[in-house]
Amino acid sequence: LTVPVIAVDGPGGAGKGTITQMLARELGWHLLDSGALYRLTALAATRKGVSLDDEAGLVAVAASLDVAFEPGVEGEPVRVLLDGADVTREIRTESCGNNASLVAVMQPVRDALLQRQRDFQKSPGLVADGRDMGTVVFPEAPVKIFLTASAEERARRRFNQLKDAGADVTMQDLLDEIRARDERDMNRAAAPLKPADDAQVIDSTGLSIKEVFDRCMAVAGQA
Ligand code: C5P
Repeated sequence: LTVPVIAVDGPGGAGKGTITQMLARELGWHLLDSGALYRLTALAATRKGVSLDDEAGLVAVAASLDVAFEPGVEGEPVRVLLDGADVTREIRTESCGNNASLVAVMQPVRDALLQRQRDFQKSPGLVADGRDMGTVVFPEAPVKIFLTASAEERARRRFNQLKDAGADVTMQDLLDEIRARDERDMNRAAAPLKPADDAQVIDSTGLSIKEVFDRCMAVAGQA
């Protein structure tokens, strides 16, 4: 008896975080934010003084991560704890995302996080958000969605988020960062970002959150 998984993969900023939280809430299923594990590994390494090119050191950090995800109540986002302290905001910065994508190229770091990710597959079901959920971590998932959007649209969404938070950034800087991160995620040897053969591709460019959510629910309903 296997617990069903909805694997949602795609580039950063395509709306996976929002959509997977909505799906998990709608279905009453568990949620795995695998990107957070790479972000937490990068953050924990920085705090412990482990260099981001020290592969053995990073593997040790990844293997011993003390993390907890506390479900958000009533529409609040999930709270992320590292060593018992709230790092929900800290792990969302551009620099933490970039550092995450640097540690994520290392296969031994990915291996160190693999079982931890699979442990999220618990009854009644799991919605998994990442880059390699459908290809590597849950290849047997009955539902696989590859959620994408143009780089310009993703930069625009990120710009609006950051502007609302009062950050001082330009569209061009964000676009450059997004392109650099896409490049790194798609061209790495270890679990490169690409749709699984049996994934349904949804391009969210120009779609509202509701429209993307409805399409995902429709895909999930077909399986
Ligand atoms: O999705 P998020 O932006 O939080 O992911 C941060 C980085 O972690 C990505 O750019 C990617 O390099 C890496 N990642 C990964 N595999 C995953 C999830 C994230 O390599 N399943």
